[in-house]
Amino acid sequence: MHSLNALVHAASSIVRQLPPTPSFCISKPSPNILSFAEFDISPTTGFIPSTIPLRRLPPPYGPWECALDLVNCGVDSVLALGEDTSPDGLAKRESGERWRQNIRDMPVLPTEPMEGCIRQQRRAHLVLAYLVHFYIHSLAPSTSIAPVVPAPLAIPLVTISHALGIAPILTYADTVLWNVTPKNIAQPLAPGNIRILTNFSGTDDEEAFYEVCAQIELFGAEALHIMAMYQNLNIKDTYRLRLDTLCSVAACLGQITTHIEDLTTILKGVHNWCAPKTFYDNIRPWFRGSSSGPIPWVYEGVTAAHGWKEEWRTLSGPSGGQSTLMHALDAFLDVDHSMEKTDDLRTFITPRKGNDRSFMRRMQQYMPAVQRAFLDHIGGSSFPIRQFATSVSNSISPNAKEVVNKYNSAVIALRKFRDAHLKIACVYIVVQARKAEAEATFMSPELAVAPRLPPAPSGCPVSAMLLRLVAEGDADLLAVCPISGMNIKDVPSAPAATPPSSTHQQSAKSAPVIGTGGTDVVSLLRSCRDSTSRAIVPTPR
Ligand code: HEM
Repeated sequence: MHSLNALVHAASSIVRQLPPTPSFCISKPSPNILSFAEFDISPTTGFIPSTIPLRRLPPPYGPWECALDLVNCGVDSVLALGEDTSPDGLAKRESGERWRQNIRDMPVLPTEPMEGCIRQQRRAHLVLAYLVHFYIHSLAPSTSIAPVVPAPLAIPLVTISHALGIAPILTYADTVLWNVTPKNIAQPLAPGNIRILTNFSGTDDEEAFYEVCAQIELFGAEALHIMAMYQNLNIKDTYRLRLDTLCSVAACLGQITTHIEDLTTILKGVHNWCAPKTFYDNIRPWFRGSSSGPIPWVYEGVTAAHGWKEEWRTLSGPSGGQSTLMHALDAFLDVDHSMEKTDDLRTFITPRKGNDRSFMRRMQQYMPAVQRAFLDHIGGSSFPIRQFATSVSNSISPNAKEVVNKYNSAVIALRKFRDAHLKIACVYIVVQARKAEAEATFMSPELAVAPRLPPAPSGCPVSAMLLRLVAEGDADLLAVCPISGMNIKDVPSAPAATPPSSTHQQSAKSAPVIGTGGTDVVSLLRSCRDSTSRAIVPTPR
């Protein structure tokens, strides 16, 4: 097991003393006042429940827990990915089929006894959703037969999902928020005291991947406090230019910027603990959702009476895009991913080709309903912080200018988070996909009918990928490659490409790499970054 101590150390070292609470000008409490309890948010752990997630369901649900025990055990798992043709993968095919048969033979257990017990319902969602992904992705891949989620999993999963208001598939809530427990149970859950309960591959890398996300959530709890502080200022238009109001808002913005920068530092740490190849080959294939294959999954025996919704026919797998914390930061700063808002000093940006403007909105169906309600609350603020910044942007008061500058710094910090994230997605997914493609071609050149990339520059393939993005106009990525440490500007330019073969001549570009959310990864992440930039409030010259 890797020691995660250094990660923990790095994360702990960025815990900062909050600056002294500014003297807010609080008017009478309004119905808009933000109460954490109402949204099931913990003051210390944010969207991770403050009552530690249940580690096991009560005995009547033993069959589910036992089925999970047989696969949540790394190399000892009775299962392998259906596409795994390694000797180990082939050796597990028989035991895998026996495991799946046992699932099919299980009774459909009633979920009514869990009603009113949120911890049991969350644990049930986690267990059933992991079982579904283990079941479906251990089947032999087929392009003509729809994968069937058997009724003993499908019916209780849909019923529980309906109760929680979350999609009936593995979500970020299952892999991160409800998948943690304290390593030292005598101490509370904290950045240095996290153990991951369930994973697919049994690798330290997978645990570290979830742990980085959990660290972000735990650190993010502070950002939620700042959102609450702002909301509870209950600013009225009449006193928005008062000195104490301006100072309070500037203080909130300064603090939120620091927190976003901390989240970026934690995100970047993923490189130390999770190897891109392990992520791509051994972890990510298990995440694929029902929309990722040629035919969507069929949830056997499920009807509208179980709470089934038509939009659940095609669902994505878990993604950081489902983190309510990230959506809350967007909502607080009024980042508009739909690109619909045009009348509030937002810079016009031509949407990129393939821009999926509804992605972030769609991701919200993978959050528990209570967390979605929190986003609506933040988004519905009576005086959104961006509107505040725009409303004072023409003022000559230095304090008003300070608010606009601080608002823009917060947006830039969020954009830098997305820059770092885009690079990570390139390293962990796009580059790995291209390498896998190149290896497949090398092994069997006759497979080379798919359109291909032109040869990458020699040296670090990640730098090469980033260089390509820069060549396509992504100047923000002119930075140090997170893997090789090479400055992208210093990457040698590509040697003259060998003349393409007649097959390759069909197209110089590879098909886009698709994320677990079912969209072109690079276009999507660049669009999210663009919509963040659009929030910047122009300052008068
Ligand atoms: C190895 C680490 C990571 C990789 C490879 C990765 C990859 C991706 C990919 C491919 C997407 C596109 C949507 C999809 O297909 O799901 C995505 C979206 C997203 N991810 Fe990650 N991710 C990583 C870590 C994280 C972490 C730790 C967070 C923070 C909690 C995060 C937050 C997001 C957000 C907010 C989106 C939506 C797009 C955006 O807001 O820019 N990711 N990620």
